[in-house]
Amino acid sequence: MHNSAYSACGMPHVYDSLQVDSLSSVQGLLEEGKRDGIVVSLPYKTEILQMLDEVAPDARCIGAVNTVVIEKDFISGQPMKRPILKGYNTDYIGIMNCIQLSLSPANSVKQGTSALIVGAGGMARAAIYACVQVGIQNVCIFNRTRENAHKLTEYYELIDTLDSPWPAQLRQPTVIVSCIAPDTPATFSIPEQWLCSKTSGVFIELAYTPLATPFTKQMQSKVSRGWILVDGFEVLVEQGVAQFEILTRRPAPVYVMRDAVQRSILNAILLLNGPNLNLLGTREPHLYGTTALKDIEQSSIELGTKLEARIETFQSNHEGHLIDRIHAARGVADAIMINPGAFTHTSVAIRDALLGVNIPFIEMHITNVHTREAFRQHSFLSDKAAACIIGLGVFGYEVAIEHAARDLVNK
Ligand SMILES: NC(=O)c1ccc[n+]([C@@H]2O[C@H](COP(=O)([O-])OP(=O)(O)OC[C@H]3O[C@@H](n4cnc5c(N)ncnc54)[C@H](OP(=O)(O)O)[C@@H]3O)[C@@H](O)[C@H]2O)c1
Repeated sequence: MHNSAYSACGMPHVYDSLQVDSLSSVQGLLEEGKRDGIVVSLPYKTEILQMLDEVAPDARCIGAVNTVVIEKDFISGQPMKRPILKGYNTDYIGIMNCIQLSLSPANSVKQGTSALIVGAGGMARAAIYACVQVGIQNVCIFNRTRENAHKLTEYYELIDTLDSPWPAQLRQPTVIVSCIAPDTPATFSIPEQWLCSKTSGVFIELAYTPLATPFTKQMQSKVSRGWILVDGFEVLVEQGVAQFEILTRRPAPVYVMRDAVQRSILNAILLLNGPNLNLLGTREPHLYGTTALKDIEQSSIELGTKLEARIETFQSNHEGHLIDRIHAARGVADAIMINPGAFTHTSVAIRDALLGVNIPFIEMHITNVHTREAFRQHSFLSDKAAACIIGLGVFGYEVAIEHAARDLVNK
């Protein structure tokens, strides 16, 4: 995300990741003089505070720093003896922005607005601070281990058990932030008695590996009631944008950063449609059905999102354009789904392109080509395809995405 941003802004900087095994190694990195800043992850977000010359008030309040700016300015023409280290926390900014961007007008923050934080680790502290910053005065915490949550409840209410009712004196929460470590997924659901807000609310999941967690699966069933779901990917981008702006003091190329994160987190599947498929919905509907290509592409993208795959779509009536798109997928796409249309039976060039980029592909046909004209019986692709999905109508696209997202991308 950061490297894509530097490159888009024409900056020579490089973002590199280093694993260190002690805080003293971090000290070395800070003083090497080669860097303009460092981004800190667990377990050093708290310990690093003691090494810093200045800590932003929000980071001080949260008790954690994830971004250190190394100031190497000159004072009175003399280089400083050692760089000044300034600490910031952008985790809370990511959460705060996601709350503000996702709250519906009906849930705009008022005096009685309540929030629920699930978890009591470092990110829970950032989430509480984010809630307070958007003006929420009533924050409740639930954590698996009661004692760990106690450290956070000096000012905020603790909910003891999953059987507890929502505190009677508070309105039902309209902001819920899940701050649970992803390595061992929670085995409980958010109790239904805490999800009774008449205006629903926003649910933010911080974990992003994987994007789908037990809570996002639970909350998906509440979307029809008006709940807005925000995944850890959104928070990651928002906090990364803030980090870029603090480190470089210039506006971040948000679109570029979002795209880079999406590329790194999600598997990419290219959905190609060949000649005449742009006419789907109106072309010989007795054979090809009534669903338009744009609807197939849209539902493919939505299904892909559920399966943590990013679907890119492309249709062309021109063989060369399809070949160019296949070439562009090299090193980018993890799988290709192709309905080559009539090129199936004629195009050695598309076959060569698919083999040339060495990306597993699925050949798809809406109709059962084997029951049709003799010239449709031969395919230049089938013997090289990972799978052929033929005759299932437009449902074949769903089947292809399921197979590509679950099986092909990991090969
Ligand atoms: N999207 C982003 O930009 C972003 C940035 C940073 C972190 N994160 C994510 O934020 C999450 C929290 O990070 P953190 O730094 O706060 O971690 P942390 O300090 O290790 O805290 C983890 C919390 O999760 C709870 N927990 C762990 N496993 C659990 C389980 N199976 N059931 C119930 N509770 C469980 C722990 O409860 P106990 O007290 O009972 O152990 C603790 O409260 C992680 O998923 C991390 O990947 C996201």
